[in-house]
Amino acid sequence: MFSATLTAGTTYLGLRLRGLRRSQQEPAAPVRSLSVFCQPADATYGEWIAACLAMAARTRVESYRALDPPAPAPNGSPTWSVCVLSTTWETLGSPMLDHYGPDAELLIVVRIEDCATPPELGGADIVDIGHLDEVSARTLLFHELVARGVLAEKDLPETSALPSAGGTPFPYGGPAITNLGPPAPTFVGRDALVRALRAQFLHPGDEDHDVSAVAVVGMGGVGKSSLAVNHAHRYRRHYDIIWWITADRPTSLRAGLARLALKLGVPELADADLLIAELRRALRERGPWLLIFDNADSVEDLRRHWPSGDGGHVLITSRLADWSGLVPGRAVLRVPPLSGDHAVRLLCDGTGDDDPEAARTVARLLGRLPLALTHAVAYVRQAATSLAVYGRLLEDSLEDVLTRFQPSDSVQPVAMTWNLTLRRAAERDPLTLDLMRLWAMLAPEGLSRDLAGEGVPDLPGHLTPVAQDAVAYDLAVQHLHRYSLIRIEAGAAEVHRLVR
Ligand SMILES: Nc1ncnc2c1ncn2[C@@H]1O[C@H](COP(=O)(O)OP(=O)(O)OP(=O)(O)O)[C@@H](O)[C@H]1O
Ligand SMILES: [Mg+2]
Repeated sequence: MFSATLTAGTTYLGLRLRGLRRSQQEPAAPVRSLSVFCQPADATYGEWIAACLAMAARTRVESYRALDPPAPAPNGSPTWSVCVLSTTWETLGSPMLDHYGPDAELLIVVRIEDCATPPELGGADIVDIGHLDEVSARTLLFHELVARGVLAEKDLPETSALPSAGGTPFPYGGPAITNLGPPAPTFVGRDALVRALRAQFLHPGDEDHDVSAVAVVGMGGVGKSSLAVNHAHRYRRHYDIIWWITADRPTSLRAGLARLALKLGVPELADADLLIAELRRALRERGPWLLIFDNADSVEDLRRHWPSGDGGHVLITSRLADWSGLVPGRAVLRVPPLSGDHAVRLLCDGTGDDDPEAARTVARLLGRLPLALTHAVAYVRQAATSLAVYGRLLEDSLEDVLTRFQPSDSVQPVAMTWNLTLRRAAERDPLTLDLMRLWAMLAPEGLSRDLAGEGVPDLPGHLTPVAQDAVAYDLAVQHLHRYSLIRIEAGAAEVHRLVR
């Protein structure tokens, strides 16, 4: 499927290239033959680069379908390939390279945004044009091609005199319509998750829906919203619209959608259903878009407000684990706590206390939960203390610190994060609270169903039913799992150490 998409994309690029305006000085027999390759998602960059190159004299720009062998270059001169490197490469790889091989002599890589260099590119030359405006990007591109002997200086067009590459617009650097906040400068890790998210959007594997949706789920404070922000910034140039909607209540959900509708030129409409219908129509007419429903709390609410439009992406963040009906099972991504190394980095960088041993202890005591780690950073800074001292404080009175410390008036103590979720879960099944208490008493690291079924001696009276009634136990486990308060793996349920 991938090669079909790629072939279609590059063919499209090839068609567009034929229409490009060539340099007026182009001679009958070009001395340099160039191909531009890119993923379909990067076609605007591919077209722009090809258009730039076509402005040089004595240069012929060709495009080959990705899986075809390149035609022999005229006059036996080498065929240079210009490859576009972007975050898309990270998720899709590049079958172009399987075909060409990383022949550094013949391959020039133009990196258009921040992304790692894939190992298969080995020692290929990389020209970075991300973050540059059009004139600077084009000047650098020409400069590098001359330095590598691909183009001759005398064949270059007068770049400063050219407002745009042969009429081909410089690709946009981000969405035209957005309410996305700035990226968090302190964000660490999550690379694989962000890439998995992108890959899921690109290959939803569910062709029946025009919108491709992914749900990012996990316990409170584990970093779902931060992940969504990071993803949106990282891939922002692929979208014409990125819109953030707080979806924890129907009213905020509707208000967020109404604000987007207004931006898209939909007049104010009191009738919510009409407004959504109009918004769907407006979105169908727009370019690629990403809507983020943050902290969504109800499948039904989202279903009622679900957008539509070919190529639209919906990202849901939620403590609820079950999004069946709206999001395919494989598109539900669970966010785990941070890795040990990233937790240590967050603590050391945030506090300025370069004590990895103490940071490791604090990270372990806090279960590497990002929310708790950021509170730890705030505590150490505000109290002008050290990670080692804070670690000892946690060892003595973890609960006290988590329930009492507020980094600022508007930020609740860490422990409050789950109280609310527990209360919501308990509204649906009061036994969930009892089950949590049971766990806290008996086996905080993990409790198997069998243990509860056998019955446990000396339990307080109100905990006996949930410990001895296997069905009640299962239902309570399901509720806790639904609210991401526990994790179920290999038949055993596990409670995060801070939720106990
Ligand atoms: N990868 C990360 N690097 C650095 N800080 C992070 C990271 N992930 C989360 N944080 C910090 O942890 C805190 C909680 O993160 P976030 O709000 O994203 O969690 P959440 O899962 O969305 O929580 P909730 O369920 O309450 O909405 C924030 O202060 C955020 O800045
Ligand atoms: Mg959140």
